Amino acid sequence: MCGIVGYIGNKNCVPILLEGLKRLEYRGYDSAGIGIINETDCKVVKTKGKVADLEKLLYNENIYANLGIGHTRWATHGEPSIENAHPHMNNDKTLFIIHNGIIENYASLKKGLLNEGYKFVSETDTEVLAHLIDHYLKLKNNLFQAVRYALNEVEGTYGIAVIYKNEPDKIVVARKGSPLVIGVGKNENFVASDVNALITYTSQVVYLEDGEIAEVYKDHFHAKNIHDEEIIKEIHEVDLSVDEITKGGYPHYMLKEIMEQPESIYNSMRGRLVYEDGISKLGGLQGYEERIANSDRIIISACGTSWHAGLVGEYMLEQYAGIPVEVEYASEFRYRKPVINSNDTIIFISQSGETADTLASLREAKKKGALCLGICNVVGSSIARESDAGVYIHAGPEIGVASTKAFTSQLVVLSLITLLLARRKSLNLLEGQEIIKEMQSLPSKVERILKQNKYIKEIADKYADCRNFLYLGRGYHFPVALEGALKLKEISYIHAEGYPAAEMKHGPIALIDENMPVVFLAIKDSVYEKVLSNIQEVKARKGRILAIVNEEDNHIDKMVDHVIRVPKTIDMLQPILSVIPLQLLAYHIAVKKGLNVDQPRNLAKSVTVE
Ligand code: F6R
Repeated sequence: MCGIVGYIGNKNCVPILLEGLKRLEYRGYDSAGIGIINETDCKVVKTKGKVADLEKLLYNENIYANLGIGHTRWATHGEPSIENAHPHMNNDKTLFIIHNGIIENYASLKKGLLNEGYKFVSETDTEVLAHLIDHYLKLKNNLFQAVRYALNEVEGTYGIAVIYKNEPDKIVVARKGSPLVIGVGKNENFVASDVNALITYTSQVVYLEDGEIAEVYKDHFHAKNIHDEEIIKEIHEVDLSVDEITKGGYPHYMLKEIMEQPESIYNSMRGRLVYEDGISKLGGLQGYEERIANSDRIIISACGTSWHAGLVGEYMLEQYAGIPVEVEYASEFRYRKPVINSNDTIIFISQSGETADTLASLREAKKKGALCLGICNVVGSSIARESDAGVYIHAGPEIGVASTKAFTSQLVVLSLITLLLARRKSLNLLEGQEIIKEMQSLPSKVERILKQNKYIKEIADKYADCRNFLYLGRGYHFPVALEGALKLKEISYIHAEGYPAAEMKHGPIALIDENMPVVFLAIKDSVYEKVLSNIQEVKARKGRILAIVNEEDNHIDKMVDHVIRVPKTIDMLQPILSVIPLQLLAYHIAVKKGLNVDQPRNLAKSVTVE
């Protein structure tokens, strides 16, 4: 998704903007550009392509400026092209704007501006904003007020940064539905859509809220709301190191993040397990425990991989806490008219905490009076801030577009919540302690799986030419089958589907022949025998089978083509282990095909538009 970065200070902004844009590359983009203003010049340089291409262009230009903004664009209105890349400008070429989000009423605004004589050079909704601000500049002669007036006319979402030749001492930024942070430095300030872009320069950040506009000068900033009322903003300290957001010697972020899982899983539960009492302790839910445990119903709302985590959470919570659970796609939940009661608890799961559909579903649910909890990774993200209470997963920054360590950490946090609630219901001390012991053994068990990386690569090489895959599992492993299929399709572009194994005979079995690889989650749990029958059904039709089995299970070897073994744990936690070979399988197949694993086509890390 698009990325924003901006600088004002005493240094040359160009290398700072480029560095920031590189840090935002992981979000996915198709064009990039910067706009600068100095005493003699104001200039925009853009490219349809990568930040490295922009860097080459800038090298030839030899620009020096203390004020600038930079952007990576992910096409929404208009194809990827130099004209559609940001920054966009007014007709005088004195005002530059970069924008994340979508202006929904851009067509009607554009009509009015065309009538006024404004000339458009791009197909974007953002260019409408550039001219609209210009229109108000002519009336108000003040950049901040012009931006404020323009935004009052806008429907949709935005995170914007604007600079203007006649007011070269400031960047004006605003946010509605698309994140925007100010980085506070010494005699220099930064703006960005993501703290990752700033972390090389400062750890002090200010999060803008929806409806807020700020003027950022080199040595101070101040914020107002859209109604022109002053707002006091708090400065937060972010605890992220540059090392945490670089590849640390791995060829791809995705592999690095898969390999980090012993640590990220440990971090998700660190300090949260109380063995003596057989219970978990979650500071973010303090004071809400009774209310959650007594909910009539829990609804989980999320998208993509986080939605899959929610499905596993449903199985956990119903089995142990005995509370009815429903799992909803956030995109559906926000637009249909769901029946929500004040005695429902709604859990919003989101790695980024910025996913537009999940955030909108949270806002809808809040209006209906339900208790809203967030399970997020990004600290200070919108969902984390707007939820009534919540739990951070503490997986560390996830940069690879395909979510891996966030998924396993989401499952850890859902297990912690399950334990917390189940102990208030019928789970006894010994049972609670048993779960804790199993949770504590997860990091070392994950290490055992990761040691098979080379072996899994060898298997992946054998399957890399396949054009379709089926992933089958039952019970806790049905969502894992969905997640395995999603990982494969998003980074290797191979068509893959996940099914509950028993559903196969209701249609998908027609697809099985010697060319169809089937990945079975054949774990020794309560539905193991049933999965064995499903394996026989596929074998009888000559399907090629790769099975994920438990370490001590030698029974399946002779029935299937390949096996990958994972350590055994209790059913509820087993998905945390079984998903890891599927992450590695997808990764190695994509690498074998020569694909850019960290930036798969058409995908963005954080989907902040609908
Ligand atoms: C898949 C993936 C996406 C995200 C989805 C939700 O690997 O990353 O499916 O899970 O876009 O994102 P978050 O969790 O940030 O709300």
